[in-house]
This record gives sequence, C-alpha cells and structure tokens, in this order.
Amino acid sequence: MKSIIIANWKMNLSPGQETELTSAFKKELNSKKNQEVVICPSFLGLEKVAGILKGADLVLGAQDAFWEKAGAYTGQISPKFLKELGCEYAILGHSERRENLNETDEMVNKKVSACLENEMTPIICVGENFDQKQEGQTHFVVLHQLSQALKNIDLVEDEKLIIAYEPVWVIGRGQAVDPEEAEDVFEIIHQTLVDLYPSTIVKNNIRLIYGGSVDVDNAAGFMALDLCHGFLVGGASLDVERFAGVLNST
Ligand code: PGA
Repeated sequence: MKSIIIANWKMNLSPGQETELTSAFKKELNSKKNQEVVICPSFLGLEKVAGILKGADLVLGAQDAFWEKAGAYTGQISPKFLKELGCEYAILGHSERRENLNETDEMVNKKVSACLENEMTPIICVGENFDQKQEGQTHFVVLHQLSQALKNIDLVEDEKLIIAYEPVWVIGRGQAVDPEEAEDVFEIIHQTLVDLYPSTIVKNNIRLIYGGSVDVDNAAGFMALDLCHGFLVGGASLDVERFAGVLNST
C-alpha cells in the first residue's frame, strides 16, 4: 500500500494564500512513486486549489464534511458537493472540532458513513488529550473513539479508511511523541480493526497514520514503524521546504 501524507492547512491561510502555496507545492514537490500526497485547504479555497492541482500528482481533501447529502442545513458542506469539486478525502473528528465545536463520536460516525456513500475516503482522527494521558486513559479513549466512529460501518471491497492517531497534547507543540509511544497505540488500533473487519480488508483498505508536530527531523522515526503508513501534517505543511522534507524522509 502507498504511504499517505496529508497536509491539513486548518484556518491558517486566506483563499489567496492557499492558491499561492498550492502553486508552490505543484512546482516544488515531487511525491515519490509509492507515496500519495493530499492537500486539505479551507472550504473556501477548495475550488481554486482543485483547478491548480489539475495535472499534478497531488490529491484534494476537505477538512470536514457534513452527514447529509443536501437540504436545510445552514452552513454545512455536503460530501456529495465536496466530491463534485474533486475531493477524494475528508478529515473527520479532528480534535480541534471535537474541542471547539463539541463534535461527538456519533457525529463522526454519521460523517464516516456519508463520506463512504459519496465515494470519499474518511480520515478519522483519534487521540487522547493531556489529562487523559496523565490518567492512563490513552488506550481506552482511542479504542472508544475508533469503535464509535466505525459503528455499523461495513467496508466493502473498494472502500478505504485512514485512521490518524493524533495525541492531542502534542498537536502544534513542535515536539512529537516518541515513535515507540505511537507504536503502542497503533497496535491497539490495529487490533480493534482486526476485531471489526476481515484481515484482508484491514491489510488492503485501511492505513494508519500519525499526526502531532510531524516535521523533517522526526518523520523517518515514525515511518520505521511497521504499522505507520504516513502522516497528518499541520504546521510543517504550511511551508514548502518543511513539507518537502517530510515527504523526502517518508
Ligand atoms: P501539527 O498539526 O502538525 O501542527 O501538530 C497536526 C494536526 O492537527 O493534524
């Protein structure tokens, strides 16, 4: 399976800045053969970024998606419409949405289902916060978030999932966890997936990735882990050189 590196630009750039950075990425980045690179701009930037990405080896993703296809849902964005703009992926259940908008596991579950129905691959974010970590709750929290997100989700042959393990307390901190700590959680995630799906589906359709202060100097350590298939990158994806460095060490 290809590794996957996802740039999550969050709400850091204006639509104009997003088009500039996309053009720079298109010019400067060379994804390797066995690598998939996904750019997730803001909703406002999607259409222009999609235009720039035409003919490039970069894939478009969204930072969220609502669970309904269409209707009276003020301010929401349908996965069907995102797909129409060319989005292949959607980040779901990011800790910043869970914290700032009270996004629940139930909502994440509905979004996972809606994305799959619209032929988009969900990037499901799971991870413990600092207090949960201190209380020794990491395994419980991750297992709970994951099993709730995947409740009643039957993956059929061509449906894919990305599970992003992001220890919330290292997001945007400039200091990732040790790869060994992530490996321990990857194993729990992998075991949960094996309990839920046939092993061929787990092997061929689901990739586990790490997120949380990924940068040039720590990416290789995570990629050395058997279960790690890539990254969700925030801060380092806002700079061409740093992001290129992450791709090179992956
Ligand atoms: P970071 O963000 O790389 O800036 O820590 C990661 C994320 O929130 O997905």
